Amino acid sequence: MGWVSTHAHFLGNSGLLSSNDCASNLNLKTLLPPRLRSSRVRSGEARKVVAFHGLRRPPYKLDALEPYMSQKMVEMHWGEYQRAYVEGLNKQLEKNNILYGCTMDELVTVTYNNGNPLPEFNNAAQVWNHDFFWESMQPGGGDIPKQGLLQQIEKDFGSFLDFREQFIEAALSLFGSGWVWLVLKRQKKKLEVVKTSNAITPLVWDDIPILALDVWEHAYYPDYKNDRSSYVNAFLDHLVSWNVATGRMIRAEAFVNLGEPTIPVA
Ligand SMILES: [Fe+2]
Repeated sequence: MGWVSTHAHFLGNSGLLSSNDCASNLNLKTLLPPRLRSSRVRSGEARKVVAFHGLRRPPYKLDALEPYMSQKMVEMHWGEYQRAYVEGLNKQLEKNNILYGCTMDELVTVTYNNGNPLPEFNNAAQVWNHDFFWESMQPGGGDIPKQGLLQQIEKDFGSFLDFREQFIEAALSLFGSGWVWLVLKRQKKKLEVVKTSNAITPLVWDDIPILALDVWEHAYYPDYKNDRSSYVNAFLDHLVSWNVATGRMIRAEAFVNLGEPTIPVA
């Protein structure tokens, strides 16, 4: 399809517009954080869309997760299913001037529309969720988290094994299609395991995702058939990237004060 950009680009009287033009429609503007409310859009301004959101590649070769996730499955999951969400979203954006200029994060939040999702929400959220999912894994993953994140998990779940048990339980008990997440809850200031149905993402509740596991059937059926349990265990034992999770946690702590660090006694 040749989508080459991860941001929407527009040609109009003012040339290339920035993400400050996201959701410039007055109704949607009220849903945005204050920094995005100062739209520079002028009425009657003609624009032509030249590119929308692109299909982002996983950060490793498509066979790199073998044998726990086959190349064939990644090619289908990423190359067909996720591509369909990207193309579906781009088709919708062609028809909706209101959403011009939004980053993917902003699109998800804005189109969730406080629980009354706009038609674009499912595709936007599925694109965001899949990008986050691919980046939650690495070749040679698994094991246990690094020190700081491990300490926070032990504090919030009791132990790493308790976290692991909760994560597996959430994945196996999720009815139908959806996602399992490790998130940092902003208000509670703690890590929790949450599950979401269909395309819903914790971003819409202002939680900060640390890890995601896709438990739609399309994510595991080709390799694992109906054995969701083996898929979830393979994710935790061999695929999950605690390096990436640690980086996300460090970033999250810039927004959520988790208290004073424990200073080792000499
Ligand atoms: Fe998926």
